[in-house]
Amino acid sequence: VTYGYIAGGAGDELTVAENVAAWRRFRLRPHMLRDVSSISTATTVLGTPVAGPILVAPTAMHGLVCEQRELATARAAQRCGTVHVLSQAVTTSLEDVAATDPGAPRWMQVAVQRDRGITRDVCARAGAHGYRAIVVTVDSPVLMRRTRFEQASFNVPAGMGLPNLVPAAGVTPDLYEVVLGFDPTLTFDDLPLLAEWSGGLPVGVKGIVRGDDAARCVDAGAAAILVSNHGGRQVDTCVSTASVLAEVVEAVDGRAEVYVDGGIRRGHDVLKALALGARAVLVGRSVVWGLALGGEDGVVEVLTMLRDELETTLGLCGLTSVHDVPADLLTTLA
Ligand SMILES: Cc1cc2nc3c(=O)[nH]c(=O)nc-3n(C[C@H](O)[C@H](O)[C@H](O)COP(=O)(O)O)c2cc1C
Repeated sequence: VTYGYIAGGAGDELTVAENVAAWRRFRLRPHMLRDVSSISTATTVLGTPVAGPILVAPTAMHGLVCEQRELATARAAQRCGTVHVLSQAVTTSLEDVAATDPGAPRWMQVAVQRDRGITRDVCARAGAHGYRAIVVTVDSPVLMRRTRFEQASFNVPAGMGLPNLVPAAGVTPDLYEVVLGFDPTLTFDDLPLLAEWSGGLPVGVKGIVRGDDAARCVDAGAAAILVSNHGGRQVDTCVSTASVLAEVVEAVDGRAEVYVDGGIRRGHDVLKALALGARAVLVGRSVVWGLALGGEDGVVEVLTMLRDELETTLGLCGLTSVHDVPADLLTTLA
């Protein structure tokens, strides 16, 4: 049941599969005879230095797969020198996660609740505990239909809390009620609230799959656009993120950083995202699988593997930096 919750997506899961397939339809056109004796994957995201352009996506309830819960994920991200985006729907309070290493770079994901006081409170707590950005997920205005987990009657296990969403101790939340609690009236005009509530943190908008929407988010003050279809978990048959990334990058036109997630499984997927103009990628399920199989070390292994593969592929393509990946490195399969 837990496996289905993590692996699955909306409807017939066509977008879940398409996200992975879309990266794989691109082919690389490597350059030769370049000096690649020194390769760096280092970059920055919203001004924070990271060892590579590979961030930890917000995913819910790590307590389902690991006793150390989100604390293990946080420590793994720290060890790998990258940003951990903490989901609001997690089994550890944002304060406890921050306490693992108060100086480590982390961002807080929220979905605005109908009771906006809850979201205002989470943003304020994040701002007060050293989180460096708010990521607002905007792709869940109504309840999604996930056949796999509905058939299995998946829900939050008894005794497990979601302390950033439902602060009352001892209350096991109902997942459907949590999602139905998201505010369906949210519009572009509300985006400035997130910065205000958090005490001025930069805001990234997650769940964008169109250039026109991305431009409007930036007009409303977004510092980053996260091209995402929630790993195929919201709108089945939604376009793959790989297929719309270039359109979003063009529409944003350098006014905000653009990241992408969905189907990133290998270092060459990351390289392709960079060639299409993303500054970094986020990884969802692969991190959760690493956590389930090996706890903190498992997550380190996944993140290290992706970064190592990216470095190798850069070198083999005649490139030495993540900042100069040309668009013509890619061609598409007929
Ligand atoms: C088990 C699971 C839980 C997730 N929970 C959240 C969440 O709480 N908030 C959110 O914005 N996205 C959530 N996502 C979506 C991820 O942030 C990300 O967009 C997606 O997993 C990327 O695709 P990938 O799994 O193919 O890497 C979740 C994804 C999974 C698989």
